[in-house]
Amino acid sequence: MQVSRLELRDFRNYERAEVRLAAGLTVICGPNGAGKTNLLEGIYFGCTGRSPRTSNERELIRRGASVTRVTLDVEDQTERHRLEVGFEPGAQKRVSLDGSSVEGAPGAESRPLVSVFMPERLELVKGAPSARRAHLDRFVAALWPSRAETRAAYSRALAQRNALLARLRAGASSRAALAAWDAELARHGTQLMEDRREAVDGLRPEFAGLAA
Ligand SMILES: Nc1ncnc2c1ncn2[C@@H]1O[C@H](COP(=O)(O)OP(=O)(O)OP(=O)(O)O)[C@@H](O)[C@H]1O
Ligand SMILES: [Mg+2]
Repeated sequence: MQVSRLELRDFRNYERAEVRLAAGLTVICGPNGAGKTNLLEGIYFGCTGRSPRTSNERELIRRGASVTRVTLDVEDQTERHRLEVGFEPGAQKRVSLDGSSVEGAPGAESRPLVSVFMPERLELVKGAPSARRAHLDRFVAALWPSRAETRAAYSRALAQRNALLARLRAGASSRAALAAWDAELARHGTQLMEDRREAVDGLRPEFAGLAA
């Protein structure tokens, strides 16, 4: 599935922009600061409801404007969809698929699966392992949406267990309660490891082919 049209309203440096994309490779060139990366960010934001370069979504709104909107037309041989993401500080982000609002991001079956490479992404290779784990878990969630909950469940069990350990140290709880959280943490942790392993196994042949 590919993006055939991108429309930006008050997004980054664009007050209003419409870009039509043909099939195949598109090269965007222009001077520094012209807004090339902003276009890429707009496509990613429209597909996923998230920015690939900032968690502060206020930065996405054009300076001087109060609300931003990104609209994408996407299509393959059999389907066409319109994805829309609207953001206004203080209000919930509005994501819609063909005019009906959806929670989070539209499902992977009705949008292109996007991967964006920016120089900052080298942090994935050079940076701390936690960033790699988080990335792998997003990959798992994109492949198998029903497994997206495992990471959150593991994080909750870890936080609960750590809180209990703190209470134990303070003498405010009994050790008996620990076994239940050990089991919960192990259950979600095992599931998370299996999902990660399966995802990596799926990627392995591709990488082996590149290295050959
Ligand atoms: N919220 C915003 N409102 C208005 N302008 C913004 C906003 N956020 C970023 N900009 C502007 O966008 C421009 C940068 O755009 P972008 O990063 O897409 O450039 P680029 O074409 O990728 O440049 P380079 O070649 O340096 O990578 C800057 O001029 C910056 O001031
Ligand atoms: Mg750039």
